[in-house]
Order: sequence, then C-alpha cells, then structure tokens
Amino acid sequence: MRIAVTGATGFLGRHLVRLLLSCGHEVCALGRRVGDYNGLERVSAIPMDLTSDTGSLGVFDGCDAVIHLAGIFAEGRRQRFDQVIRGGTKRLIAEAHRAGISRFVYVSARGASAAARSKFLRAKYGAEEALRASDLDWTIVRPSVIYGPGDHIVNRLADLLRWPFVPLVGDGTTEVSPIHVDDVVHVLVAALGQSSSIGKTVVLRGPEVMPFHSLVDVVEDVSTRMRRPRVHIHAGLVRLAARFLAVCPGDLLTRERVALFTDPPGEEVDAIVLTGEIPLRADVVREYLHPAGTRRRIPRTEQVPIPNDEVVAALIRNGHGPLPRVVFGSTEGGSIGIANSGWAQAH
Ligand SMILES: NC(=O)c1ccc[n+]([C@@H]2O[C@H](COP(=O)([O-])OP(=O)(O)OC[C@H]3O[C@@H](n4cnc5c(N)ncnc54)[C@H](OP(=O)(O)O)[C@@H]3O)[C@@H](O)[C@H]2O)c1
Repeated sequence: MRIAVTGATGFLGRHLVRLLLSCGHEVCALGRRVGDYNGLERVSAIPMDLTSDTGSLGVFDGCDAVIHLAGIFAEGRRQRFDQVIRGGTKRLIAEAHRAGISRFVYVSARGASAAARSKFLRAKYGAEEALRASDLDWTIVRPSVIYGPGDHIVNRLADLLRWPFVPLVGDGTTEVSPIHVDDVVHVLVAALGQSSSIGKTVVLRGPEVMPFHSLVDVVEDVSTRMRRPRVHIHAGLVRLAARFLAVCPGDLLTRERVALFTDPPGEEVDAIVLTGEIPLRADVVREYLHPAGTRRRIPRTEQVPIPNDEVVAALIRNGHGPLPRVVFGSTEGGSIGIANSGWAQAH
C-alpha cells in the first residue's frame, strides 16, 4: 500500500516511516520540512501545511490510506491549537474525500475531551469529532505520553537535570503511563490492516502506571550519578508562571505541559484500552540517551534520524519479523493487551 504519513519528520513519524518501509509499504511523507526524505527509495516527500487552505491540496493523490500524526504541543504566533489540530484535520478530511481515500487513522492524545482544561486536548477532541462526523473509515488512537529514541519527554527531563535541583509540579504524584514508541507504531500499522479497528477510539497506555516523580528518577539514574534535591512547586504557581514566563529549556513549561503533569486523564468510557508491552526501565532509556560507552548525550534528533539511502535499502531488504497481534475488541471487554508476541523481547 502507499500510505500518506502527516508529521513524518516528527518523533513518532520517523519511527512510523521506518516500520512502514520494513513492512513493504510505500510512504508519502508529509510535513512542512520534508526535504530530508527527498530521493529515497519508496518514499515521496510532499510539502504540506495544515494551517493554509492551499497547503494540503493534492497531497493524498495516489495514496491508499492516511495516518495523520502532524500536530503541535505548544502554540506560537502563527500556530494555534484550534487552527492546526482541529482546523488542519478538517482540511485533511476534505482532502481525503477529494482524493477518494476512505481509510484514515488519526493520532489524538489520551485525555482528549470537550471538557478538558487543556486547549490542546480540547482541540484534539474537536479533530476527533470532525472525523467521527465524516463518512471515512476512521480509527482514532489516543496514546499516553510516548517515550523512545527521539522522544520529547525523557529528553526534556534530561535537559532539566542539568539544573542544580529538580522542580516538580505539586507533589509529583500525578500518575503517568508512558508507552514505548514501538508499541504505538505497531498499533498504527495493525489498525491500518484490520477492519475491526474501523470506527473505534483506542486509548494506548504503557504496561505500568507510575507517579511522575518515578519517571524523573529513571531519567536521573541514566543521565547523572548525582541525586538532585526535589523542589515541589505548587501547581497553581506553576500555571501562573507558565502563563507569563518561559523559564525552562525549550517549551517545557507551557500551560499544556503543566496540565499533563497535573490533570490525570478522566475515565475514557467511549474507548478501547490497549496496553503496551515495553516497560519504562533505565536500560531502555540508556540505550538511546547514553548508549554503552558513550559519555556524551546523544542529541534528540540523532537518536532516530530521518533514514538515508543505505538505511532505507536495509529496511526494505531485511523486512520485518512478525508483528504483534493487536485485538481491536469492544469496550465491554475491558482492557485488551497487545498480545504477547515476543515483540518486546525481540527489541
Ligand atoms: N509524543 C508524545 O508523547 C505524544 C503523546 C500523545 C499524542 N501525541 C500525538 O502524536 C502526534 C505526533 O507527535 P510527535 O511527538 O511525533 O510530535 P513532533 O515530534 O512534534 O512532530 C510533529 C509533526 O507535525 C508536523 N507539523 C507541525 N505543524 C505543522 C503544520 N502546520 N503543517 C504540517 N505539519 C506540521 C511537524 O513537521 P514540520 O515541522 O516538518 O512541519 C512534525 O513532523 C501528535 O499529533 C501528538 O499530539 C504525541
């Protein structure tokens, strides 16, 4: 199949493109800065901008299905959540109709809801609703925070550990359930191939639920031998700071990120819950942050680079072993796991 992947240059997109190629698919890589995909075997790089009416015209021509990942975590002057996430998705739905494509897999986020405090999660819900109202064969996937080579969360925490102390929002006990990127891309590829996923909303969480401070502990074990003092900052104060200041590296301290650390996701009664297989452990994190024998921290974008000719040829040549069986059942059955397939052990 020829699969259009929006957000192919991002963290999740880079992993997904590799998996699709190794599964024998062709990829149409879409995003604003897709130049690095130019000229690769079985990949077409097509510029696309979700914020403009003309930016997505014709981008799905010749494709069989869409996996829509593109999105933002922080607003800028020219990129607002509603415009990029909800508006951009509506544009792509129209474009899918125009191109005669019916299969559309969308990556939303855990906690997406019309009632969420976070504008990001409300925009995600708006995008979901646009899909549900369409007559496309849609699947909506709502992952928890995703970790793995090139991730945002672990790399940002590692940045934060350069400070002499570790600021924690509130008491740091907000529960998170990090899911490994391999588990996520598997579910996306499985969803494409299984008609039982059509019309389903799927929550993806990791095999463990942990307090946020335990996630910080794991990253600290890998990044530094020194245990830094924790400084607990009242959530209200952090929200206020996030409104006015950019006090952290990158865009770590945005109101949306604070909501992630303080607002536990509500009950998701309308969704199936799938549980990933790869638990967040120091050795898994070390493998991409500081591989054996490397004292230097590997920069985020080098942890999973956009593949070059050689890598693409190897992906195509070597193919992929059996993928885990994913069962897209009904919500009545409760949690459904990614079947024990040995995938986690093989990776
Ligand atoms: N990472 C997580 O922990 C996590 C958790 C839950 C859900 N998600 C969702 O998963 C999806 C992928 O996340 P990610 O971590 O891969 O994000 P990412 O690394 O920030 O990548 C975002 C992608 O979106 C593209 N993009 C941004 N604005 C665009 C625009 N106006 N037009 C076209 N493309 C645009 C970017 O490409 P260019 O800059 O080249 O345009 C980039 O490829 C997102 O929808 C995110 O909300 C992620």
